[in-house]
Amino acid sequence: MTTRRKFTLVAIGTALAVASSVGGAALAFILGPLRRRASHEPVLLDLGPASAFEALRAGTSGPEEVLMERTVEDGYMTRRVKERFAIVRDTSAASGLVALGTTCSHLGCGVSWNATRNAFLCPCHGGVYGPEGAVLAGPPPKPLTRLPLVVSGGRVQLDAAALDV
Ligand code: FES
Repeated sequence: MTTRRKFTLVAIGTALAVASSVGGAALAFILGPLRRRASHEPVLLDLGPASAFEALRAGTSGPEEVLMERTVEDGYMTRRVKERFAIVRDTSAASGLVALGTTCSHLGCGVSWNATRNAFLCPCHGGVYGPEGAVLAGPPPKPLTRLPLVVSGGRVQLDAAALDV
């Protein structure tokens, strides 16, 4: 084998080795976030002791608003988002409670509980939701989003993975 031919083979081999190591790392970097996002592990948000919700569960008090922050990984970005829920009574749930999203199903405004009218009211276009989140009046096409709660170890918890679907 001539020296020129040996040199060409070594150069091609070196180029292939460099390309495969750089390409593999680049591919792992690009596809890594997709793999992370695919794993929907439960992320339990602690809402407090179950005893704090006894009156609500017994039906002697109205919905309770909960504000909290959580970390969201979305592709390449990690950010903190604020969440607002209303915890309401739900006799069909094992926990006796359910969390309602407070985003109006019409165009996404925030709804708030109004004790006088016994309803969640949307300030934007007059949407009205009942205490269980059902649409009572106005343009909203769907009820408020229901997010199941679990009671574990005497604490009320919400699976935040349900917020990402
Ligand atoms: Fe709530 Fe339109 S955004 S009624």
